[in-house]
Amino acid sequence: MKKRANIVAGNWKMNKDYQQGRDLTLEIVNKLQPSETVVILCPPFTHLQNTHTAINDISNLHLGAQNCHQEESGAYTGEISTGMLKSCGCDFVIIGHSERREFFSESDELLARKVDRALATGLRPIFCCGEPLPIREKGTHAAHVSEQVKNGLFHLPEEQMKEVVIAYEPIWAIGTGKTASPEQAQEMHQVIRSLLAKQYSEALAERISILYGGSVKPANAAELFAKPDVDGGLVGGASLKADDFIGIINHSNEALAK
Ligand code: PGA
Repeated sequence: MKKRANIVAGNWKMNKDYQQGRDLTLEIVNKLQPSETVVILCPPFTHLQNTHTAINDISNLHLGAQNCHQEESGAYTGEISTGMLKSCGCDFVIIGHSERREFFSESDELLARKVDRALATGLRPIFCCGEPLPIREKGTHAAHVSEQVKNGLFHLPEEQMKEVVIAYEPIWAIGTGKTASPEQAQEMHQVIRSLLAKQYSEALAERISILYGGSVKPANAAELFAKPDVDGGLVGGASLKADDFIGIINHSNEALAK
């Protein structure tokens, strides 16, 4: 019996206008069955309030944001603070997605500050890590991901670390239709969990949910989620279709039932 939650989080990225977002949320709400899987919707900022209203009464459904600023408030035109997210009903925030690292030059140091800010506001970070293809081909992926985890998270005391969710997302598998094999995912999740055990404790390592991300879909979710250290998924493309997203959640429920 696992000591940690299985989580399926939908990262809509920069997709769906207001009405489309509303329709998608309502379809998910209507089709979702109560279950043990923690489901998180991470729509764009402009949809948060509305999504929150739609999911309000559903106990296993939570709201997350895709990014936040590292400062509490101030003259940062165009940015969104963790306090704003919390006041819109967010429980989670994705931090360090590879698209933020790559297209917005977010460094490990900056991400560590965002993690601190999120936790100080009572938001749970979904901290992303993952290697690009050349690093995988060189065979140094475990070291690469370990550095990201250490630099982004290991300044936290155990009390705060307990609140963090980790998402391993190999960059070569994101949006490419190319998924890591269940064995590749398991191997890296185990590396991350051992790192947590070494830095903190076995007990803490057993409590942290580690999600896999990168072209998760209903057709591959069952075998990924069957791996002992894969505690659900961070889903991009397939979270934009209610039936696919629900299909993935169902695979998480089945994995939990085994
Ligand atoms: P994908 O995206 O499922 O479309 O590959 C995953 C992610 O980037 O979180």
